[in-house]
Amino acid sequence: MCGIVGYVGPRASERALEVVMEGLGRLEYRGYDSAGVALVGEGVVETRKRAGKLANLRSALEDAPLPDTATAIGHTRWATHGGPTDENAHPHRGGPDGKLALVHNGIIENFHSLKQDLIARGVRFTSETDTEVVAHLVDEAFGRTGNLTDAMREVVNTLHGAFTLLAVHADQPHVVVGARRNSPLVVGLGEGENFLGSDVAAFIGYTRHALELGQDQIVTITPDSYEVIDFDGIPTDGKAYEVTWDAAAAEKGGYATFMEKEIHEQPHAVADTLLGRTDADGNLTLDELHVSEDELRAVTKIVIVACGTAAYAGTVAKYALERWTRIPVEVELAHEFRYRDPVIDEHTLVVSISQSGETMDTLMAVRHAKELGARTVSICNTHGSTIPRESDAVLYTHAGPEIAVASTKAFLAQITASYILGLYLASLRGSMAASGTDPAEVMAELREVPAKIEKLLGSMDRVKEIAYYMADSRSVLFLGRHVGYPVAMEGALKLKELAYIHAEGFAAGELKHGPIALIEPGQPVFVIVPSPDSEHGLHGKVVSNIQEIRARGARTLVIAEEGDEDVVPFADVVIRVPRTPALLAPLLTVVPLQIFALQLSTAKGLDVDQPRNLAKSVTVE
Ligand code: F6R
Repeated sequence: MCGIVGYVGPRASERALEVVMEGLGRLEYRGYDSAGVALVGEGVVETRKRAGKLANLRSALEDAPLPDTATAIGHTRWATHGGPTDENAHPHRGGPDGKLALVHNGIIENFHSLKQDLIARGVRFTSETDTEVVAHLVDEAFGRTGNLTDAMREVVNTLHGAFTLLAVHADQPHVVVGARRNSPLVVGLGEGENFLGSDVAAFIGYTRHALELGQDQIVTITPDSYEVIDFDGIPTDGKAYEVTWDAAAAEKGGYATFMEKEIHEQPHAVADTLLGRTDADGNLTLDELHVSEDELRAVTKIVIVACGTAAYAGTVAKYALERWTRIPVEVELAHEFRYRDPVIDEHTLVVSISQSGETMDTLMAVRHAKELGARTVSICNTHGSTIPRESDAVLYTHAGPEIAVASTKAFLAQITASYILGLYLASLRGSMAASGTDPAEVMAELREVPAKIEKLLGSMDRVKEIAYYMADSRSVLFLGRHVGYPVAMEGALKLKELAYIHAEGFAAGELKHGPIALIEPGQPVFVIVPSPDSEHGLHGKVVSNIQEIRARGARTLVIAEEGDEDVVPFADVVIRVPRTPALLAPLLTVVPLQIFALQLSTAKGLDVDQPRNLAKSVTVE
């Protein structure tokens, strides 16, 4: 949700502001309602904060520069309690003389009663946030303990909810203290300097040595030391790891937007996710999956939990997993699953899908599943994030950092990883023999997909053109069947979030049960047509659906395989995708829909990478 950066450098160096501003720039995707920094010198803390994007804070710092120091914290906000104003922007100050500054990601659920107590003690508030409560409490505790780490520990034990907190104090100017519960925080280990960040992007320009923190831990960094304790004060070790991607991977690399770059990285995202998953004989080996083969053979039900785009990846996966493994698969939005009483036991495999690995709804669903006795596997793109850490096993997608708020390459990587999981289960259970195929054959077909995406990306001029002249559309519909149905929903979601246009994705078979009433002359409808080789005559059924809507005046934008001539008489526009087996088609058919949404958003002059009201990583419920 919000992005957090902390830095302590050598006493003589005074570049904390520069380091923290750079970190905030890389974390802005996490929230952009406001931004702020606090700089700490001997006996003094100074803050600057502004509503709106980081650019507003930059101009404020240009208009009224702050003297740089060796220690600083920074924050980029996605508003929860209190609107996006200067006053509600972080850092918040604590104490009558404002000697403490604190930033926060998450929600303090019991802030109201804590605030009433503080008001009764004469504390005056300057914002509507839950965070300011914590700033005052930590300052009060500092008054009693004289030590920021002890003060933080005292306070976190009184808080309910999800939080990452960073605090600095004028009387300990070379220390930053961080604490985390249910929200992300990583430590960057430098030479004579140390960093804290919501994720490694915050400090990737300076160090690749990182330390993963566990749940309910507090970390204290100075220029040349770090110390981790739990909320009971017991010293503990973080888990050290090396970050494998570099700063360049987080830059735009010549593209106008991160989203455009990430769409063009999709061939790599799929290819890299496939890498290293087979042995020399071509057999699938998922060494990283720490669930025993016997347990996997005993699985009687799979439940996929995820949100948004990741849930659509899960819906695509359902078709393939059931087909290959013959295990029943349910797909459920994580926030719905969590508050149900699902029928689950130790033979249920709950597969969570999450790009960030920090989505609160999905994390809570995983915890719920574990409480009910299920085995949990996470499909995740972010190394060391909370969901994989709390799952029994993880299958990482290798899409690289996804910065644009709207997910693209992670979607393809998630589908690919789910397929690998399905094929692995199928090979353990021998369940594909009846269909006359085997996992190695599908893996070989999957390996051909990256080149097909590359080819497709080279033929998108027509899609870009139609996006430009459809910029004034008020509503666009998307129809698909079978694996094309979740693709239709994903196409609609991309258009809603990027271009703020009303869009709906429907199962084409559902059309006649209601949605066809929406069709009026000129209504644009994208139709994802299954391959002519599809089973059950699906291709012919969708071609009939196109005729039905065309007869009622719809403008039909048809995504069809190369060589599929049956669609031509009924399509206003045909968008061709390379031929591929039916179950793998979503890895191709979604690409034109991503490009369409990107171009339409650009044509409307909107912010492609940071659409309004959204955040990349939704770490609150
Ligand atoms: C849409 C989008 C979101 C995410 C969802 C889950 O473009 O990005 O719908 O897919 O918020 O996020 P993760 O995958 O990080 O759990």
